[in-house]
Amino acid sequence: MSVKVYLDNAATTPVSKEVLDEMLPYFAEHFGNPSSIHSYGRKAKAAIEKVRKTVAKYLNASTSEIFFTGSGTESSNTIIKCAVRDLGVKRIITSKTEHHCVLHSVEAMQREGVVIDFVVLDKYGKPDLNSLGDLLAAEKGTTLVSLMHANNEIGTMLNIAEVSELCKQYGAYFHSDTVQTIGYFPFDLQKVKIHFMSGSAHKFHGPKGVGFLYVNSEAMLKPYIDGGSQERNMRAGTENVPGIVGLGKALELAIEQMDANRQYLLSLKHYMINKLTNAIERVDFNGDVTDEGSNCKVLNVSLPEHEKAELMLFNLDMAGIAASGGSACTSGSEKGSHVLEAIGADPKRKAIRFSFSKYNTKEEIDHTVETLRKMLKGEPVKQPIA
Ligand SMILES: Cc1ncc(COP(=O)(O)O)c(C=O)c1O
Repeated sequence: MSVKVYLDNAATTPVSKEVLDEMLPYFAEHFGNPSSIHSYGRKAKAAIEKVRKTVAKYLNASTSEIFFTGSGTESSNTIIKCAVRDLGVKRIITSKTEHHCVLHSVEAMQREGVVIDFVVLDKYGKPDLNSLGDLLAAEKGTTLVSLMHANNEIGTMLNIAEVSELCKQYGAYFHSDTVQTIGYFPFDLQKVKIHFMSGSAHKFHGPKGVGFLYVNSEAMLKPYIDGGSQERNMRAGTENVPGIVGLGKALELAIEQMDANRQYLLSLKHYMINKLTNAIERVDFNGDVTDEGSNCKVLNVSLPEHEKAELMLFNLDMAGIAASGGSACTSGSEKGSHVLEAIGADPKRKAIRFSFSKYNTKEEIDHTVETLRKMLKGEPVKQPIA
């Protein structure tokens, strides 16, 4: 077994070989600009439209409701800022555990006079639906509800169908940041109405720097970026053709393998929970860890108070094991996790997020748990080969 272990798949996933193979011809061979009307352009355009069909079919949506973007962050910024500008949204209901691309967009809108309400969360970080209902019932003008499908740090999942029903009942627009669940969960937007969704290819073995935006035809927005008429005037800028092709192939594979992947990721997660519970006294887990209530790929471990816990992530990295303390986007900043703070996690306990992919094995988990146990006991651990 390679001594290096990658357990940070909520931050990003490796591009799979099949995806890379599909992308490669679109760099130098089929390099045309999709807006050009000659054969080079048409080839690139056709590739993009094929992917749009794949995404639309997966969501049970229309191709006219799918727009490619440069990231999940861009998708959520577009939705939140344009919903205020174009749909007359006067109030946003969201949660304190959203990804910063949502929270910071919401804060930007607050500075422009939009009212922000935060839904009450339970100790697992799940929005309380009574609280959401009460907020929706208080008449404060056109409302956008923005609640993520699965939390990237603790894995807790939203009951998206129930939230959709509540939004319908009160006539609110509904956005869900589905960046962590696209490719891992089935969606049927004809059954569960969501006005806006955001996706990002690098979370499901596609490339970085390419995402998509779903906009329901009843809530059409105007462009966020001004420029050319790409993406049917909705998102200017020459399309990232290899990236979009990669997104499409990665999504096709994810759809084909969805059930098997889910079972496999769940088996890794159960295995790690058991191993950790047996190896480390007073270990605990942040967020919901049930199969139905959480994302199969995320496990947030709460370590017992320990003098060595503070340096644990650094020491794991030295030992060749990649995990994270929370969101990759905030690592490097001194601030603790806003998600753990919002759910009232004990600040004295250090948290480590392990997140799995189809490429991880039980042997890697054995190695990780054993390394963690040794570190906490102060025993020497092996360094990676390279
Ligand atoms: C829940 C969630 N939303 C949005 C993003 C941002 O996606 P991107 O990296 O494509 O900007 C991430 C990535 O960490 C995420 O986990």
